[in-house]
Amino acid sequence: MTPTSALWILLFVIMAMSHHSEVLGANVGINYGRIANDLPSPKRVIEFLARDLQYKIPMVRLFDPEPEALAALSETNLVVSLGTLNEDLSQLASSIDFAREWLNKYVTPYMDSAGNGTKFRYLTLGNEVIPGPFAENVLPAMKNLQQAVVEAKLSDYIQVSTVVSAGVLGSSYPPSTGVFADNVAGIMSDIVKYLHDNNAPLLINIYPYFAYISDTEHISLDYALFTSKQPVVIDGEWQYYNLFDAMVDAFVAAMVKVIGSEDIKIVVAESGWPSAGNEPYSNFESAMTYNNNLKNRIQNQGGTPRKPDLNLDTYIFALFNENQKPAGAEQHCGSFYPNLSKVYPLW
Ligand SMILES: *[C@@H]1O[C@H](CO)[C@@H](O)[C@H](O)[C@H]1NC(C)=O
Ligand SMILES: *[C@@H]1O[C@H](CO)[C@@H](O)[C@H](O)[C@H]1NC(C)=O
Repeated sequence: MTPTSALWILLFVIMAMSHHSEVLGANVGINYGRIANDLPSPKRVIEFLARDLQYKIPMVRLFDPEPEALAALSETNLVVSLGTLNEDLSQLASSIDFAREWLNKYVTPYMDSAGNGTKFRYLTLGNEVIPGPFAENVLPAMKNLQQAVVEAKLSDYIQVSTVVSAGVLGSSYPPSTGVFADNVAGIMSDIVKYLHDNNAPLLINIYPYFAYISDTEHISLDYALFTSKQPVVIDGEWQYYNLFDAMVDAFVAAMVKVIGSEDIKIVVAESGWPSAGNEPYSNFESAMTYNNNLKNRIQNQGGTPRKPDLNLDTYIFALFNENQKPAGAEQHCGSFYPNLSKVYPLW
């Protein structure tokens, strides 16, 4: 083969790859929750992800700024989504100085304006606080923290957003009817417009498990676990083989209605299935099936039926079983035990 023909083949391969970019996969990360009294130190946990697991899990979400974890992360290439405590929301909303202090305490010590250090990607204001007493604080807090990020010259690396549950939707079935609920419609539409102006994603928590256990008569386990061989829901031109896609596309529909175009971005901040605590629905088999299918689905194809180019980065819930969460299934969402052995094969 001549060098020239090799070059042409290379060009062809690159063009073919970019042509198919809309069906390329997205990344799968993990939620590192710490509501437990028997977990390894944050330093050991970060080392476990980076060294023991060799970055098989490349992204990690922290619910609050834990200094030891943030420092340990700066020695790794793990991509980090960092939440603020809900209690800090009102001050973040009311004071740009407090937002600057927050950033200077938890972010700038670990990441410089060349992007070296901890690879922060998202800072999330509030986890599932809409609707609720903190809901009005979310957008003002996002604006203040965004301004602080810009001032610190970190806006090339970091996007500011919030995390919402499917509870913000008033309708989600069929997916194209997705719309924000009346009691949050004003707040959500302002947030979605702001995110769109900043080219940032909305982070959503998507739990087919909860939808399934609330209506096992009408929702099939196959549809919830990604194991259906046939489309279960047909919504106009879109066919749904699994509930996860349908729930995400309900968000797509709601967001598209707000901004009037399909140009929206979403990240799944949480999804998972418990391995115990609510039998018969929670068990090793279902947890293993759901989480493995979710992971493969996202890694192979990061879009949805309605929006194949969505590039839906997803954080599985969760890294560990957490023994101080409310009793029941919530304590059994981990893919690892506190002693770092696997609950079931996933990674
Ligand atoms: C920061 O990153 C830049 C660009 O990658 C590199 O040239 C520089 O040496 C890094 N600085 C430090 C202190 O690591
Ligand atoms: C880790 O903890 C689990 C759950 O308590 C237990 O079943 C398993 O045997 C432990 N593994 C090791 C290596 O100690």
